[in-house]
Amino acid sequence: MFIRHETIEKNAFLMLVLTLLVISIGGIVEVIPLFTIETTVEHVKGVRPYTPLESRGRDIYVREGCYVCHSQMIRALRDEVERYGHYSIAAESMYDHPFQWGSKRIGPDLARVGGKYSNDWHYAHLINAQSVVPESLMPHYAFLASTPLDTDDLMNRLKAQRAVGVPYTDEEIAKAQADLLTQADPAADNAALLTRYPKAVQVGHGGTVTELDALVAYLQVLGTMVDFADPANENLRQ
Ligand code: HEC
Repeated sequence: MFIRHETIEKNAFLMLVLTLLVISIGGIVEVIPLFTIETTVEHVKGVRPYTPLESRGRDIYVREGCYVCHSQMIRALRDEVERYGHYSIAAESMYDHPFQWGSKRIGPDLARVGGKYSNDWHYAHLINAQSVVPESLMPHYAFLASTPLDTDDLMNRLKAQRAVGVPYTDEEIAKAQADLLTQADPAADNAALLTRYPKAVQVGHGGTVTELDALVAYLQVLGTMVDFADPANENLRQ
């Protein structure tokens, strides 16, 4: 055994060939699953692409670096599940490009924050976190409330998402602007919006749509798409 090893150590070429062999086995084991990603991430009832407004809210979440302090990944550990709810499943971030799992929690995990608070709470909290949570060290984002949401390139943004695998239909892309305005106006009739995007939460106070409206719409859908009590999702129950 050791004598054979000596042969390898004394022969640079043989050593190189064997090293490459070992590395390529490791590489193949890592790469092959990526070719079958379509079947690896199972589709789960309820998971849908973001509405145009939620999607813009997500852009703002990324732009403002909320992921620096917040994760969106509930681990399958008892304390996490008791605090945040059902652990995160792969399908819940299948339409996230890029995913927002994060790597640091200065604030709590946000994977299931949707529906936990009212819209008004989120507006107040994002404008001035200490107004609702006095000991909070979260920065103020009041400027989002006075910044009109840029929607000029909305259709192109959805098309770009579609190019990387988010299944927006032609109809959803064509109606993007209308859907966005409906979701940002609580007085608007949202029947068509809900058939395209179930569970979309209407936000805003009428008038100009702001970046804050989009961000609140995004926060309110987080973790709400999958109904873990639905018999169709029985295999997911913890
Ligand atoms: C400097 C770190 C930091 C940044 C950046 C930050 N947060 Fe927070 N966030 C916190 C802390 C700490 C808390 C817990 C105290 C509180 O509720 O304010 C919190 C709480 C929250 C909560 C309430 C969560 C819950 O379950 O109670 C939400 C929602 C939230 N943040 C959203 C955001 C969004 C959206 C952004 C980006 C615009 C953001 N945060 C940026 C630190 C941060």
